Amino acid sequence: MDVIEAMNSCRAIRYFKTDPIPDETLEGLIHAATRAPNPGNSQGWEFIILTDREIKAALSESISQVIGGTVEALEELGGGLESLDPVDRRMLQGAQHLAGSLADVPAIILVCGRKIYPPMEPQESFVWSTCYPAAQNILLAARQQGIGSCFTTFQQTCEPQLRELLNIPDDIYVCAFIPLGYPDTDKVNFGPLARKPIEEVIHRNGWEG
Ligand SMILES: Cc1cc2nc3c(=O)[nH]c(=O)nc-3n(C[C@H](O)[C@H](O)[C@H](O)COP(=O)(O)O)c2cc1C
Repeated sequence: MDVIEAMNSCRAIRYFKTDPIPDETLEGLIHAATRAPNPGNSQGWEFIILTDREIKAALSESISQVIGGTVEALEELGGGLESLDPVDRRMLQGAQHLAGSLADVPAIILVCGRKIYPPMEPQESFVWSTCYPAAQNILLAARQQGIGSCFTTFQQTCEPQLRELLNIPDDIYVCAFIPLGYPDTDKVNFGPLARKPIEEVIHRNGWEG
């Protein structure tokens, strides 16, 4: 599969089979991540491969509570999930399912960063700009191997617990939480992405006057 085909079909996958992902495959995804561009080649990234079922189950409970709270708030506002447009509804239902099934998700990669760039005066923005291209490389390399993934910010819903369970040092940022597995094709599959036509986002030689 070429890279364009991988990009064209790299949907966020939130329903997974339980089949494990071989360790060497996961290492291959980290290899892909570390090929990403990064500021001054400072490589201020670190990766946690999380497969421990007990830890995944504990995180699942906390993250589900937060997402459940969002769904309840929608219900209190009237209309609940039904009040959302179909795309948002599917996304929230998918996120709810993903959070609730994390114990069974074969692997989660946490993309973490160090604030080390520029060396004289390190800035937080460069932590994120280091980690996000690396995360995207993980998604594409996974897609190329038939492994589904979903870029999430689930870490933000349970960060103190996550740090304690995984012994993450205080000076390390947790930038992305990426569940990975073979897609449960009864529910989802890779396929075309819903995006605006490029004509809507291109500005030739600047914004039209
Ligand atoms: C910065 C960022 C944060 C995201 N956070 C979440 C998240 O917390 N939960 C989730 O289910 N998806 C999350 N997503 C995935 C987006 O919802 C998804 O990429 C978008 O809806 C487009 O879906 P598609 O790629 O399947 O077309 C996130 C994506 C990005 C880039």
